[in-house]
Amino acid sequence: MQQELLFKVLVIGDLGVGKTSIIKRYVHQIFSQHYRATIGVDFALKVLQWDNDTVIRLQLWDIAGQERYGNMTRVYYREAVGALVVFDVTRASTFDAVLKWKDDLDSKVTLNHGRPVPAVLLANKSDQLGSQQPKLDSFCRENGFVGWFETSAKENTNIEEATRCLVEHILNNEESPVVERDPGSLVLSGYTNTAKDHLNCSTCVKW
Ligand code: GTP
Ligand code: MG
Repeated sequence: MQQELLFKVLVIGDLGVGKTSIIKRYVHQIFSQHYRATIGVDFALKVLQWDNDTVIRLQLWDIAGQERYGNMTRVYYREAVGALVVFDVTRASTFDAVLKWKDDLDSKVTLNHGRPVPAVLLANKSDQLGSQQPKLDSFCRENGFVGWFETSAKENTNIEEATRCLVEHILNNEESPVVERDPGSLVLSGYTNTAKDHLNCSTCVKW
């Protein structure tokens, strides 16, 4: 029997880093050079046939960069199970803001068992990189990101890979034990299929 899972995923990061462009590329396979700032929040739905038994509906919440200065994020973040945190590799200030977004996220939403929601860091506009970008492995480990990817909405680089990495971590949380009956015997929450089958993407850093 097919099971359907609905996941609310946030896409956050400073003004103009490419959040809307990443979503448009991922969901509609289009890209535009034209910048129109998102007001408040936008939505998009991506349906993934994850495996033979599982359809995943990813509800993407495209939060306007300017919302970091507003007071609506607590409402927008509610019941999210994962996040893409985006910065623009050509503007250092947007990288500095990454930790502010991450702190905002962690202070306003946690999973049932109190753990932070998995977040993947996207170094976007990588098509504009002259030289090699510094590696962000240790930055991610130190700051609680489950992985990072150099992405380009323009050239369609690594967007599928980054979302796949995030979904794998979301699924892992879904199946993590929640009830301890007696020592050594654990009861799994609703999702019991083994998501480990999918944990084979090499760029998805796991620790
Ligand atoms: P807000 O809605 O204001 O928070 O911005 P945003 O993060 O949604 O940015 P948006 O997707 O609107 O992109 C801003 C500008 O960057 C647009 O002009 C896009 O065309 C451009 N852009 C986005 N992604 C890329 C990319 O990967 N490469 C290049 N070269 N430009 C990009
Ligand atoms: Mg936008």
